[in-house]
Amino acid sequence: MKILNFGSLNLDYVYHVEHMVTPGETLASTRLETFCGGKGLNQSIALAKAGAEVYHAGCIGEDGAMLLQALEEAGVETSYIKTLPGKTGHAIIQVDKSGQNCILLYGGANRLLTEHYINQVLESFGEGDVLLLQNEVNLLHVIIDKAYERGMKIILNPSPFDDNLKFCDFSKISMFLLNEVEGEQITGKKEPAAILQELARLYSQAKVVLTLGGDGACYRDESVECRQPIYPVEVVDTTAAGDTFTGYFIAAMMEGKRVSECLDLASKAASIAVGREGAAPSIPLRDEVSAQLL
Ligand code: RIB
Repeated sequence: MKILNFGSLNLDYVYHVEHMVTPGETLASTRLETFCGGKGLNQSIALAKAGAEVYHAGCIGEDGAMLLQALEEAGVETSYIKTLPGKTGHAIIQVDKSGQNCILLYGGANRLLTEHYINQVLESFGEGDVLLLQNEVNLLHVIIDKAYERGMKIILNPSPFDDNLKFCDFSKISMFLLNEVEGEQITGKKEPAAILQELARLYSQAKVVLTLGGDGACYRDESVECRQPIYPVEVVDTTAAGDTFTGYFIAAMMEGKRVSECLDLASKAASIAVGREGAAPSIPLRDEVSAQLL
């Protein structure tokens, strides 16, 4: 069983600020750093660091060499990644004193996927293989339809939530990994229990992992319901904490661990990421997660 992550690759320009810039305001940042990021790349790195064998597909521009290098150093298989003329996707990220962030995306090469390229990649995957998706690439609905036809199990992190998701057939999704904001956007419900219930009613085929920020995470499928608190740490930068959670949860699940163990491992890994700066560089190795006494 192989894992293919068809996802975004971004250069993250991180501006440290006293507070998030407000409309009409001009604000000096105190520090600028460039990190590897993108929800797709972060989740592939988290999967690989957790010990999973992961293939990443997606597009970078001519300025994206550092992203390829970061994936390779983490042990991700990168031969499906295509380099196109033009710019790599990027994110302009403000991080404030409390470690919270605001993210502005420029899609760049992430939004230049073609049906031809999608077909080429999916040719190597089939029945029982796992496909992980987020919503930062174009033609998401095409990837879902074609992967489903091939018998792949599709895991969707519907983040960031936008109108493109309306074209996607959620009845083809095996598992949703989402936060409570996305949960509300999909179901119209506010409370975690109501979100889980509504997702189960709408998409009964799908397992659901719902992350709740400081309130931890919960899981529901037709036979198991589970709740996981967070491991509290001092917040440095929350960027990629959710991606770390996603990668670790899926890696543990593919090892056949119980849901409660998957949630616990993912939660520990995410708490380590929250205590570090940057997106991909904040993602811990499996040994660090296991050794962490939280
Ligand atoms: O989830 C965090 C990521 O979202 C950042 O790395 C940024 O690139 C955006 O895609």
